[in-house]
Amino acid sequence: MTTFDPNRFVLEHDQATPKEILRAAYQAFGELTLSFSGAEDVVLVDLALKVAPKDAVHVFALDTGRLHPETYAFIERIREHYHIEIDVRFPDREAVEALVRKKGLFSFYRDGHQECCGIRKVGPLRERLAGLPMWVTGQRRDQSPGTRSSLQIAERDTAFGSEASPLFKINPLTHWSSEEVWTHIRMFDVPYNPLHERGFVSLGCEPCTRPTLPGQHEREGRWWWEDQAGKECGLHAANLATR
Ligand code: ADX
Ligand code: SF4
Repeated sequence: MTTFDPNRFVLEHDQATPKEILRAAYQAFGELTLSFSGAEDVVLVDLALKVAPKDAVHVFALDTGRLHPETYAFIERIREHYHIEIDVRFPDREAVEALVRKKGLFSFYRDGHQECCGIRKVGPLRERLAGLPMWVTGQRRDQSPGTRSSLQIAERDTAFGSEASPLFKINPLTHWSSEEVWTHIRMFDVPYNPLHERGFVSLGCEPCTRPTLPGQHEREGRWWWEDQAGKECGLHAANLATR
């Protein structure tokens, strides 16, 4: 039974760098489980491997079946570059088949992304997190003023944890801006997804992500046909509850 106190962790480490936050999280939990989307959250992989031994760093990626080819190639590149295992998780085959049979391959354009994200992302995430004490995400406050402005570096994950099996989310990049992430990537020669060179800022599934124009907020490149205010796919559903 973990005695981790997220409020105390925030008080003690809120001003710390992402690397220091990861180190403190490793000290608290004895391991780090990172969710890696194949985008600029690669900085977490880079930093985690600097503060914890490789066998204590577990990286997983949710393969929705709809990622860009470049993202698949990038996930593979990271596996080879850092010599790490990446636990690539797939959605439930029957659930995907039932959705596609009933509504086709692009139902999200007609009736919203929640159903497809629920099957392709949230279900596999729930399975991956079952029984874990913590996970690390690449969320930042500046990614989504609508839903992430009150993000904390440590939070209890009420969406995927329970009373019996408490789960905590560590968000080391909470206070970093996009510029700071990219400064780190350039300064330390961290490999990055080539889609970022083609105007993609926030990266998700291929049919639901598009490049953004100068001056547009990065979140406008995600699920652009939907209401701008509440864009979360369910991985971070608690962000919506606090709005
Ligand atoms: S989303 O909820 O809108 O899809 P976003 O793309 O901003 O999330 O990514 C925020 C964080 O969620 C990532 O840094 C990562 O920790 C996690 N995440 C998002 N998509 C994936 C994925 N396909 N696989 C693993 N983790 C993911
Ligand atoms: Fe489906 Fe789009 Fe969600 Fe990917 S982002 S799981 S394609 S709705």
